[in-house]
Amino acid sequence: MQIISKEIEEYCKKFSIDDTGLLSEVATSTWETEDMPQMLSGALVGGLLQILIRISGAKRILEVGTFTGYSALKMAEALPEDGTIDCCELVEKHIQTAKSWFNKTSLGDKISIHQGKAIDSMDKFKEGTFDIIFVDADKSNYPLYHKRGLMLLKVGGIGVFDNMLWSGTVLEPSDVESHALRETAELIKNNHRLEPLLMPIRDGVMVYRKNN
Ligand SMILES: C[S@@+](CC[C@H](N)C(=O)[O-])C[C@H]1O[C@@H](n2cnc3c(N)ncnc32)[C@H](O)[C@@H]1O
Repeated sequence: MQIISKEIEEYCKKFSIDDTGLLSEVATSTWETEDMPQMLSGALVGGLLQILIRISGAKRILEVGTFTGYSALKMAEALPEDGTIDCCELVEKHIQTAKSWFNKTSLGDKISIHQGKAIDSMDKFKEGTFDIIFVDADKSNYPLYHKRGLMLLKVGGIGVFDNMLWSGTVLEPSDVESHALRETAELIKNNHRLEPLLMPIRDGVMVYRKNN
């Protein structure tokens, strides 16, 4: 299921903030050279991340799932000079590609990559470290990323989870991923400490605020 039509998505992009030159290059190169380019979050999700960062004044961000580096660079653009992003990525090839883009700009100085399973990398951080966590890796582990990520967020921090509609399959889950995504949505909705908003942007973005 295409959540919103291609035409509406293009219209939304047209009237939203444009990618800067380097971000356009990352996106174009990803679509031309990667086997699964659709993993790239894109300008609408990226634009939402930028606005959340700017409105909240976030300085420390955790990204779970980096791929070719698009979302990390997009967030780095919106961070203040002393802002930082810790990225968790499993696949060596993606890390090398992302680093090659990070090395082309001073924005790369704000970004650190932690190689390995994200859940192991997340265990290395102290509770209450981050202003924003952006989760965009293997869907079957989303419930785990949510539970651990919530501990790592400061009070007042923001959680952002991409692909929460999984092409609409969450309506009647029948595979591991759609079950895990639905479980994650229920965990978030049923947690009285959180203010959630699930939006049909691209493949579905859940945003919540950790109130206490
Ligand atoms: C959807 S892509 C991330 C897209 C990226 N956020 C962007 O917008 O360009 C998911 C990434 O998660 C990585 N990944 C998958 N399983 C992982 C795991 N267990 N730990 C860390 N990264 C993982 C994949 O290698 C892939 O690069």
